[in-house]
Amino acid sequence: MIEAKGVCLQYPDGTMALKNIDLQIVPGDMLYITGPSGSGKTSLLKLLMGMEYPTEGTLRVLGQPIAKGQDKGIRHLRMAMGPVFQEFRLIKGRTALENVMLGMRFLNTTHGHLKEAAIHTLARVGLEHKAFSLVENLSWGECQRVAIARAVVRKPAIIVADEPTGNLDKHNALNILALLSSFRDKSTAVIITTHATHLIEGEEDVKHIRMDNGNIHWERPRMT
Ligand SMILES: Nc1ncnc2c1ncn2[C@@H]1O[C@H](COP(=O)(O)OP(=O)(O)O)[C@@H](O)[C@H]1O
Ligand SMILES: [Mg+2]
Repeated sequence: MIEAKGVCLQYPDGTMALKNIDLQIVPGDMLYITGPSGSGKTSLLKLLMGMEYPTEGTLRVLGQPIAKGQDKGIRHLRMAMGPVFQEFRLIKGRTALENVMLGMRFLNTTHGHLKEAAIHTLARVGLEHKAFSLVENLSWGECQRVAIARAVVRKPAIIVADEPTGNLDKHNALNILALLSSFRDKSTAVIITTHATHLIEGEEDVKHIRMDNGNIHWERPRMT
């Protein structure tokens, strides 16, 4: 579902954020991307979301080439992606429920169905009791869960979360990772960046790449 060959990303100021990346992700994969700040994790996610284009190499996500002149296809692709942004991007002045429903705004179904799905998803992230609270009155961790609910409510094929563990303590960070990985299934891949490598050491059946200075190194499965 994701195929990158020789992908580079150079920003207009000359920064080479990604260098010759090869990557293949199939449905059902759980991929962790670790690496220090500035190593290129967010840049890689932006490419996968079609928010940046490779300056060299080829990238296809769900069959859609990520390249200039593909705007219409990339807009369509985004409907199949569930992004959880580092800064959440929730809409202030709206409730948790309304924010989750915004994740489905382009689905062609009735308001009643949307609301039902949103409430169901809020329950799944443990926030049913906050459905009618304004997001500005929620804690950081609760906003995180609203953002996750908004991302997954439309059943995306690829869930992408950028540093979802933030500054959470270990217990809460592990809970968030477990929550995100609970949405992985045979047709859904989950991709998570984190600088907290120690959090994922015990995880089984996951893929792990480590980034450093725009290069990727496969930690698991180890490539020979
Ligand atoms: N829009 C941008 N323009 C220029 N340089 C950028 C931009 N975004 C990120 N960078 C640079 O690209 C490199 C990788 O950044 P980033 O992908 O944000 O890393 P990470 O998410 O691992 O912290 C850094 O050197 C950063 O300063
Ligand atoms: Mg980042």
